[in-house]
Amino acid sequence: MSTRVLVVGAGGREHALAWGLARSSLVDEVVCAPGNPGMASIAECTPVSVTDAAAVVDLAAKLDTDLVVVGPEDPLVAGIVDALEGAGRLAFGPTAAAARLEGSKAWMKEVLVAAGVPTARFATFHAGRETEAFAFLDTLPGLYVVKTDGLAAGKGVVVTESITDARDAVRAYLSGAAFGDAGRTCVIEEGLTGPEISVFALCDGRRAQVLATAQDHKRAFDGDTGPNTGGIGAYSPVPFVGTDVVDEMMERAIRPTLAELDRRGANYRGVLYCGLMLTPEGPKVLEYNVRFGDPECQVLVPRLTSDLFVHLSESASGDLETPIEFSATSCVGVVLAAEGYPPAPDRKGDVITGIDRAGQYEGVVVFHSGTAHDDQGRVVTNGGRVLTVTAVGADVARARDRAYAAATEISWPGVHYRRDIGAQALS
Ligand code: AMP
Ligand code: GLY
Repeated sequence: MSTRVLVVGAGGREHALAWGLARSSLVDEVVCAPGNPGMASIAECTPVSVTDAAAVVDLAAKLDTDLVVVGPEDPLVAGIVDALEGAGRLAFGPTAAAARLEGSKAWMKEVLVAAGVPTARFATFHAGRETEAFAFLDTLPGLYVVKTDGLAAGKGVVVTESITDARDAVRAYLSGAAFGDAGRTCVIEEGLTGPEISVFALCDGRRAQVLATAQDHKRAFDGDTGPNTGGIGAYSPVPFVGTDVVDEMMERAIRPTLAELDRRGANYRGVLYCGLMLTPEGPKVLEYNVRFGDPECQVLVPRLTSDLFVHLSESASGDLETPIEFSATSCVGVVLAAEGYPPAPDRKGDVITGIDRAGQYEGVVVFHSGTAHDDQGRVVTNGGRVLTVTAVGADVARARDRAYAAATEISWPGVHYRRDIGAQALS
């Protein structure tokens, strides 16, 4: 009997998951839906859309999968795990009821408050309630945050010192002009300040085990300047976050959240991505995501020394038992982006050279995000975030030297990347 795993997704995060699963001595075959050229070099790729739950269920049945691993939030929020479980398939990721934690920020904040988790002061407003929303903005001390309730592809959050911009955002959201129904309910909260980090935990419904800390880099250019991105580089673990802070967040945030979700009939299985701000008053939860981060996943998986398949299967079946182990290394991931990203790449289809050479550097793995094959079988650019060059090393400094050395091997017209990924960890 051979063991088959289906990975649902097409980005760098899913490439890292497929890579980690393919390394498991317990896994015979990894299949990806739809996958990308990087994943195709280690797994079979099938052209099935991540949001076509019926097609994913059919594929899982045809493959007789032992585990389906769902990468992105959209299918999770839409209930793909419910559909897979309904068809008798073991699936890693939360059900729709639990994925609401990312699908509705208003509900997430309600859960945080009910669970007594430290978080920013907030209020929720629905369409037609502009006047009340403006009055609440006036109670905030000068840094305003306005968020769409629903998913907005990572673009639904405005953080501003300008009351005019905050009001404009409220107007655009509540009227539906900016994000349609996702914005007709919005959350307004006080702006917090401090370093932003993430804690990732695996959950089995009742219990949680910490995976690791990571820090993402959101702004497009060096020194945290330029427009926001989906994440343009990351490293793990975060050396300035001690085990005391991680333990505190497991006790004060993640475990109470699981208990509260369970009380609400939303048993949480999967990875919980806890976005934190280390404020002067202590760590506060900014957000939960119900999936691995991208590119954070790419810097977690290369450090894992225990078996990813075992951990994800145990989480999915509600029985986390096996201790999670990481090497005593750091991992740095630099995202190589296409010209014009963000917001959107101006060009696609440029031939990428040097990926194999980069992959030969010690400790380096290159994960694909926005790539495709052209009609001659060459790897070409096909999105904004194109590749993540990751490297492990004894510490952040050494890992980042390796990642940047490898990155210089890779080129295409217009390639750009930040030169200061991990710099915060060195100072
Ligand atoms: P979210 O989608 O909730 O993670 O928000 C996206 C980004 O907005 C976060 O990664 C933070 O950088 C920023 N952000 C969210 N909430 C706050 C807040 N209360 N104060 C300051 N920045 C925030
Ligand atoms: N890198 C941020 C995210 O995955 O949401």
